[in-house]
Amino acid sequence: MKLPLSNRLKACCQYVRPGDRVADIGCDHGYLGIHLLQSGIASKVIASDVKEGPLHSAVVNAHKFGVEDRISFYLSDGARNIPRDFDCMVCAGMGADTMISILEAAPWLRDSKYRLILQCQSKRPELRKYLAQAGFSISRETLAQDGKFLYPVMEVSYGPDTVPAPWEYYISPQLLADHSPLFPAFLARVIGGLDESLKGLQREGGEKYEAVNEILRHLRELEGVNP
Ligand SMILES: C[S@@+](CC[C@H](N)C(=O)[O-])C[C@H]1O[C@@H](n2cnc3c(N)ncnc32)[C@H](O)[C@@H]1O
Repeated sequence: MKLPLSNRLKACCQYVRPGDRVADIGCDHGYLGIHLLQSGIASKVIASDVKEGPLHSAVVNAHKFGVEDRISFYLSDGARNIPRDFDCMVCAGMGADTMISILEAAPWLRDSKYRLILQCQSKRPELRKYLAQAGFSISRETLAQDGKFLYPVMEVSYGPDTVPAPWEYYISPQLLADHSPLFPAFLARVIGGLDESLKGLQREGGEKYEAVNEILRHLRELEGVNP
């Protein structure tokens, strides 16, 4: 039976290195870890979820796809109750608030030996800002498309970076450097969202309006730059 792996999760897998020991936090169905083991990319996988139901489905799927000998399961809020002997942690399909609380609760992840692969569903500028302030840097960022949705996926590790400009929390230099064919459509959506925010702020004006306007001005300069 073929594993139903979304393009979003395939993009996460691209940042896993051969032989990596991978921790999949919020594994749900467990497909990401199962794919990494089936394809021989990961050497072992820690699959964890905060809820029993999803974790159980990961256990069932691991047996169904014959990888149960190389995957271990943990009921855990974030990285609290998982072993720390892994190379790469994947957090996919969660919003920024959840990811930030997971990272905040695990200060031991602030160590350059860990790579984090983050696929955030909402409030991505807030996540990028948090990462920069916490001392993490984005090494690579790319885009994936499933249906009409576009998803940024980033590879992050602990280590110094230059302080990003406010518009770089919306479009990171790493995403710009990725030259994805999906980039123009993604940029248009980011600009469209900010345009809407600006309309809401127009009446009151002030500092917030000016700040959003300035971000938009910089993002519009990227239109046509990265086809
Ligand atoms: C939308 S699913 C995403 C599943 C999979 N990672 C993917 O991207 O397809 C989110 C999963 O994260 C789990 N989750 C939410 N908050 C969590 C937390 N604090 N710690 C661990 N898992 C969490 C949920 O129970 C759910 O199974």
